[in-house]
Amino acid sequence: MSKLKIEGNNCLTGTINVSGAKNSAVALLPAALLCKNSSKIYNVPKIRDIEYLIKILKILNCDYKINDNALEINTANLKNTPIPEELSEQMRASYYFMGSLLARFKKVEISFPGGCHIGARPIDLHIKGFKALGANVEIIKNKYIITAEKLHGARIYLDFPSVGATINLMLASSYAEGTTIIENAAREPEIVNVASFLISMGAKITGAGTNTIIIEGSEILDNGSTEVFPDRIEASTYIVLGALVGKDLKIKGFIKDHINSVLTKLNECGVKFKIQNDEITISKCKNLQTTDIKTEVFPGFPTDMQQVFTVLLAKANGISTVTETIYESRFKSAELINTMGGNMKIKDNVLTIHGPVELKGKELYIPDLRGGAALVLAALIADGTTYLDNITLLLRGYEDIVEKLQNVGAKIKIVE
Ligand code: UD1
Repeated sequence: MSKLKIEGNNCLTGTINVSGAKNSAVALLPAALLCKNSSKIYNVPKIRDIEYLIKILKILNCDYKINDNALEINTANLKNTPIPEELSEQMRASYYFMGSLLARFKKVEISFPGGCHIGARPIDLHIKGFKALGANVEIIKNKYIITAEKLHGARIYLDFPSVGATINLMLASSYAEGTTIIENAAREPEIVNVASFLISMGAKITGAGTNTIIIEGSEILDNGSTEVFPDRIEASTYIVLGALVGKDLKIKGFIKDHINSVLTKLNECGVKFKIQNDEITISKCKNLQTTDIKTEVFPGFPTDMQQVFTVLLAKANGISTVTETIYESRFKSAELINTMGGNMKIKDNVLTIHGPVELKGKELYIPDLRGGAALVLAALIADGTTYLDNITLLLRGYEDIVEKLQNVGAKIKIVE
């Protein structure tokens, strides 16, 4: 089994380029099925989740061409084949095929979606929305069977601004008859990225990026084209790393408005950085201050960043807290960092971090994708050598993480 071997306490310098966003790309590929023929998606990250989605596209009889990070998809021979469990369970985003296949065929058969074990993660809001659009949803064993004679526009209020439900309902309603209004919609950049792709195909969508999205159903969509937004979580991960061990480390190719909450928290911790256009220059902060973080939906502090940020807080002078409001069980990496010398305490949904601590290399098992990124950062600031097992989880979401870190001087490699 491959492991990551990381030797810590090295200063990192040079430039890390930000890849396309995982959470946008995993929605854009299923969205391409709305095109009657062809579409192009640029800046697609080469990560495991995309490999699995391409396997699903093959099962659905799509033709595709990959040229570097550009993906051309042709759906002229699209077949509505049931999506098997061994693929759908590999990732959460397989649920986007519900919205796109329902839109195209008025029928979908798909096994339960997978994803990291960070809480219950129900998809009741997606299902309620599909029903409001006129679909019938059955669960047989571990499969959803969703059918509709026809889809019609509806006014849908989401009890929580779910990213997945908002995107799935934009997909399904793009081929519904009449107008759909999604209220209390999620406002994450991924929603805007998918909406702009759908608009490029001819969909009539307004309000993406606000909490009310209006979709006028279409009869034919085609020739979609878009570029995946830069990954705000990947960018933020490397920026936090720069505050820990950077020496004029540059992170290039992000959109500042997508990461403002993280930059604000870095400021509160006393971290200094310089931003010029899409590039930040950041160095190790020698006198880190504490802060309190509460995860929120966008534009609040992203839940996907809290595990990584706790590594920085472990080095701050005093007590910090992280309150997780989106998921019930997202502190597994904190328990593992404690075995490296961390001093973090979990009570309900609040993590209290006592700093500063010195961390020591350990042999650990990656518990989930973002927890894996947190452990990589912890290993890079620890004394000695860390071995991380279960690296497939990390590779699900960070393109070329090993190469990117090696290029700026990190001692990290995959060993058997
Ligand atoms: C997406 C991201 C994930 C990120 C999350 C929140 C993808 C593939 N994943 O996940 O990385 O952590 O947004 O920013 O884009 N909920 C329900 N019922 C539903 C849907 C959601 O109760 O039908 C709850 C979830 O359990 C969770 C919260 O709402 O507690 C947020 O979920 P949601 O925004 O849907 O996240 P995902 O789309 O699963």
